[in-house]
Amino acid sequence: MEFNEEIRQELAAIVEALKSRVIHERDYGGTYRVFSMSDGATTVDQPVFEIDAKVDEAGIEDLTTLDTIHEKIADCRKCGLGSMRTNLVFGEGNPHADLVFVGEAPGEQEDRQGRPFVGRAGQLLTRIIEAMGLKRHDVYICNILKCRPPGNRNPKPAEIRACEPFLLQQLDVIRPKVICALGTFAAKTLLDTDVPISLLRGKFHAYHGIKLMPTYHPAYLLRNPGSKKQVWEDVQVIMKELNIQVRPGES
Ligand code: URA
Repeated sequence: MEFNEEIRQELAAIVEALKSRVIHERDYGGTYRVFSMSDGATTVDQPVFEIDAKVDEAGIEDLTTLDTIHEKIADCRKCGLGSMRTNLVFGEGNPHADLVFVGEAPGEQEDRQGRPFVGRAGQLLTRIIEAMGLKRHDVYICNILKCRPPGNRNPKPAEIRACEPFLLQQLDVIRPKVICALGTFAAKTLLDTDVPISLLRGKFHAYHGIKLMPTYHPAYLLRNPGSKKQVWEDVQVIMKELNIQVRPGES
């Protein structure tokens, strides 16, 4: 009797742990492992099975939308930038976009308006998108960091670690075919490399199984208009991949 009660309590604890793990995975994504329990004599620390948290039968995937992620992180204070922002800049555009542009972090205008790429660099990005024969609402636009670093300083590693999981969740919902990483910082961070953007750009790399094209940041283009040609070359590689054709006079 006593033994049964012990087992019952142990099972209840396992169910409780699994439940909170599933909720965690629903919110933060990823594959997780279930470890066997200690049998009292030996603690088995090998995974006994793996569960993909995105299994359809569980209906988990269907519950997560961009809106639910946005709601969940609306009050985020995972790093110090949370207390300095005017607005969290989540991202905007087509939730089913084939193409996602990822920049570095919100600037002053973005922080003020709560929207990505709305300043001068953003206007140039809009023109690049339109030159592809698309509109902003056809693609999805977001940043690695959701909050503005003071004075537009470079994001710190701890801020990236805190914020990048949100980008992964967004991408998991959108499931784009191509990501265009805008600028040195986005490209190096997402690809976890120190290779300069001049060497990274022009070809696809892999980011969590998604094709990623690094190219120069629109803000860099404002200072170095001579590099627009290379960005246009990169954009054309993306267009070819996505089978986007611009009809004459359209762009
Ligand atoms: N620069 C970025 O990297 N992101 C923005 O949203 C605006 C400027």
